[in-house]
Amino acid sequence: MRRRGIFITLEGIDGTGKSTQFRLLVRYLRRRGYRVCATREPGGTKVGEKVRSILLASCTGKLAPLAELALIYAARAQHLEEVVRPALARGDVVVSDRFNDASFAYQGYGRQLGVATVQAFDRVISGRTQPDLTLVFDLEPRVALARAHGREARRNSRHGRFETQGHAFHQRVWRGYLEIARRDPARVRLVDASRPVKDIQANVRELVDLFLGRQKFQRGRRSRNSG
Ligand code: TYD
Repeated sequence: MRRRGIFITLEGIDGTGKSTQFRLLVRYLRRRGYRVCATREPGGTKVGEKVRSILLASCTGKLAPLAELALIYAARAQHLEEVVRPALARGDVVVSDRFNDASFAYQGYGRQLGVATVQAFDRVISGRTQPDLTLVFDLEPRVALARAHGREARRNSRHGRFETQGHAFHQRVWRGYLEIARRDPARVRLVDASRPVKDIQANVRELVDLFLGRQKFQRGRRSRNSG
């Protein structure tokens, strides 16, 4: 399938306010006239939502880390086939609340499976469909987790499997995200998530506008050159 769209992913540890920023960004892009495919992982498809409920339910208990990784990549394969690749082929801006960097951070670093193991799954399943721009919402794990727990308490829901992991786990995931950003600065941007919602959103819009502007310029140039 020929790819014409743009793939933007939002990432970060639990409790950074990522999902709020996701909703605001999607609304903003639609208002600006972009055709947006808004999606999320784990989930995004019927099968994916079922996998999500297995992954997040505290009653699932202990999953072998490789079983967890394989489930996540099974859901991702479905999500890519059903949602992401068709949308990119149509020329949409695909915005996903988490994608493969979450597997590197949570399973590779957090569960300590290592980057090479996640890479092996990723090469086969994501292949060339990689994000063009990734925003990592950055917040110190203690602050982020306190927020995530506050939110669960307000919703009267019990903590999910990931949120009940100890501080050391979230610290590893956080460091994982910082390492991903350090290794791939052209694609991955850190966003300081300790600020008020509207300041974070202003920063998000600035980064996305800059990126989309550059894409338009490059595409325009490419089509002029090839025409
Ligand atoms: P998220 O949708 O951010 O949770 P919530 O609905 O509570 O905001 O993500 C669900 C959890 O799944 C999150 O703790 C991270 C985890 N996850 C992984 O461990 N690996 C992955 O590849 C993905 C996509 C998510």
